[in-house]
Amino acid sequence: MMSNDLIIEIKDLRKYYPIYKGFIKSIFSKEKTYVHAVDGINFNIKAGETLGLVGESGCGKTTAGLLLLKLIEPTSGSIFFQGVDIATLSEHEIKEIRKKMQIIFQNPYESLSPRFNVLDAIAEPLRLLKVLKDEKAILERVKDTLKAVGLPQTEDFFERFPHELSGGQRQRIGVARAFVLNPLFIVADEPVSMLDVSIRVGVLRIMKELVQQFRTGFLFITHDLALARYMCDRVAVMYLGRIVEEGKTEEIIQNPLHPYTKALISAVPIPDPDARRTKDIPITGEVPSGIFLPLGCRFHPRCIYAKEECRETDPELVRTNDNDHFVACIRYNEIMNDNN
Ligand SMILES: Nc1ncnc2c1ncn2[C@@H]1O[C@H](COP(=O)(O)OP(=O)(O)OP(=O)(O)O)[C@@H](O)[C@H]1O
Ligand code: SF4
Ligand SMILES: [Mg+2]
Repeated sequence: MMSNDLIIEIKDLRKYYPIYKGFIKSIFSKEKTYVHAVDGINFNIKAGETLGLVGESGCGKTTAGLLLLKLIEPTSGSIFFQGVDIATLSEHEIKEIRKKMQIIFQNPYESLSPRFNVLDAIAEPLRLLKVLKDEKAILERVKDTLKAVGLPQTEDFFERFPHELSGGQRQRIGVARAFVLNPLFIVADEPVSMLDVSIRVGVLRIMKELVQQFRTGFLFITHDLALARYMCDRVAVMYLGRIVEEGKTEEIIQNPLHPYTKALISAVPIPDPDARRTKDIPITGEVPSGIFLPLGCRFHPRCIYAKEECRETDPELVRTNDNDHFVACIRYNEIMNDNN
């Protein structure tokens, strides 16, 4: 794939949220502590590629997505959009970039205005960003988009309001709103977790088809590896603000190297006779807070493979023998042998 296919690339991105140590104390001392929500992550996404960001609640997935869309400002690090560092852009250029980036939210009920019918909900991004001015052209684009997401293109359907739609239909409208602008990049934050299991696959399939058709760069945020397996070309596994493992989806699922990824996989049985048998690995203990981070490897208080050295060394994400597979664990080689 050519390098100009690169849609987004992030380098050492961080977001620390300041929090006050209790209200009273904050008035007098203004002493701040920080939640290390995203703590130095790197990845890139090419045109037509879906990267899955996977991990438990609170590991920083949503924060990462919001940073990429420039909906919040990073504490440090860089975001390159089509090779340009977005921190260097003027306000006008940022506006132009916003037309090329979209988000699909978790809860379609909250993200769709109850005042907008189907037509207006999908037409709104086109009108707001002045992508199309002619109402006839807008109507045509809305019809095409409804067709693409598998919804009716009838007058009657145009006039329905969110409460008159099923959950699956509402989320298809959410998908339509994101794709109607034909953006280069989309973040989908847990887009099917509020839907009934029976209708999830339909919505996922549509997103997958549209990503391929429009060659969109797609960041798919989920806590569910089975969904990531269906949707994603590559996955990045996050733990406490860091990426601990990254690689091609099948490689990660069949040959996980980080103890945390192994535990995630053994927690959610993924039906596949070919998958390499890994030990059933429990994750012990609670997720530590992002405020007082464990020294050394952040996963060590919960890792069944932890040794003394893990309390001292903070492992970097390194390339393994397989070129596209990265892992942040100083013992991954020993652990790999232990599984065989
Ligand atoms: N606006 C904020 N102010 C302070 N802390 C925040 C803020 N937003 C998120 N956090 C904290 O940052 C960390 C990462 O949160 P984030 O929402 O990115 O996680 P997540 O992986 O999306 O979780 P979930 O799976 O529950 O959606 C958490 O500890 C969270 O409490
Ligand atoms: S570095 Fe040590 S504690 Fe961290 S994941 Fe690897 S074995 Fe476990
Ligand atoms: Mg989230």
